[in-house]
Amino acid sequence: MLRRQLDIPSVLSPADGDMHSAAASMTNDISGASPSSPAKLQCQAVWKIFGSNAAAALQAATGRMSDAELAATDLVGAVRDVSLDIQANEIFVIMGLSGSGKSTLVRCMSRLIEPTAGKILFNGENLLEASPARMIEIRRHQMGMVFQHFALLPHLSVLGNVAFPLVVQGVDRAKCDARARQMIELVGLEGREDFFPNELSGGQQQRVGIARSLAVEPEIWFLDEPFSALDPLIRREMQDEFIRLQSVLQKTIVFITHDFDEAIRLADRIAIMKDGHVVQTGTPEELVMNPADDYVAEFTHNVIKAKVVRVQTIMQPLSGSAPADGYDGDVFAGQPIADVAPGFDADKRIFRVLDEAGNPTGCLMRDDVVRIMMQA
Ligand SMILES: Nc1ncnc2c1ncn2[C@@H]1O[C@H](COP(=O)(O)OP(=O)(O)O)[C@@H](O)[C@H]1O
Ligand SMILES: [Mg+2]
Repeated sequence: MLRRQLDIPSVLSPADGDMHSAAASMTNDISGASPSSPAKLQCQAVWKIFGSNAAAALQAATGRMSDAELAATDLVGAVRDVSLDIQANEIFVIMGLSGSGKSTLVRCMSRLIEPTAGKILFNGENLLEASPARMIEIRRHQMGMVFQHFALLPHLSVLGNVAFPLVVQGVDRAKCDARARQMIELVGLEGREDFFPNELSGGQQQRVGIARSLAVEPEIWFLDEPFSALDPLIRREMQDEFIRLQSVLQKTIVFITHDFDEAIRLADRIAIMKDGHVVQTGTPEELVMNPADDYVAEFTHNVIKAKVVRVQTIMQPLSGSAPADGYDGDVFAGQPIADVAPGFDADKRIFRVLDEAGNPTGCLMRDDVVRIMMQA
């Protein structure tokens, strides 16, 4: 089912089409997203309180309501004082238990839900000051959305569904179809263009939704638990597919999940939500190595560290000269320890570590790998 190889349509292909396959698998690298570059999307002190007169109540409390103050009302504090920076080209995962405010927050980001207070800056533009017409334009042309249960249009074929957002934009029909065919190929559904939604499996329908949301080439892509309704095996396949897609597309992605394993597989960074608050934001490694509180630790303690800790975290500096008998092999800095550990069979002692560009950047010692492998 899974398509490992693909002729990427040129319209989508950045210059890295021939990227080294091992480097391409390093999806945890926030390449191109230097911390100093302006965020693609910023939430500044965003609140969403459901209930009548919520805005007035928040204002009366001078813009901040504590959990205790909220609990004393019949208001629901779905999103409470959330500030986040989402960098261009990163996969930013929002993770938390059901009811923690993830969907509300992601809908606030596109103003499908109107925040009660705060700022949402998209490319520096405050969306809360944008007119309704401007918001429609931004959503249509710059944002893509996939939901857990999104409605495919039952009377339209796969091709018709994927082309639909372009048809709505008034793009010429031949162009719509050509573009839709490219997207269908991209998600591995070519040959099924003329099928109808009820002729597809759940995983295939989700691929159609993904293709449809990509048809407009969004600058930012919101996915709210897109794989949560799928069987575990299909789900894993879709995650692999998603990682492959992102290695080609390099989109800015906000991905919601309640599954920490899914979060650490996909994320460059994760924000953990609890009761409307973001309690910690960090890379998977940071969360696993230094959970901020018991709630975060609860998610991380079953994680196999070797799958999360990367070579660059435990590598040692290059000592200037190679070992007398040479290195035992090469690994990439961004690879998880679990991926490189099998390479250390009995007679292997030291590997050379390469950065993304293939330049030597450190060395990886057998003992350090064994130490991480021993930590459950
Ligand atoms: N339209 C609404 N009206 C009132 N309460 C809501 C509404 N939507 C969500 N909530 C409440 O806000 C909280 C956060 O919900 P949600 O954002 O859907 O959480 P998650 O996506 O993390 O499961 C929950 O307590 C939920 O019941
Ligand atoms: Mg939700």
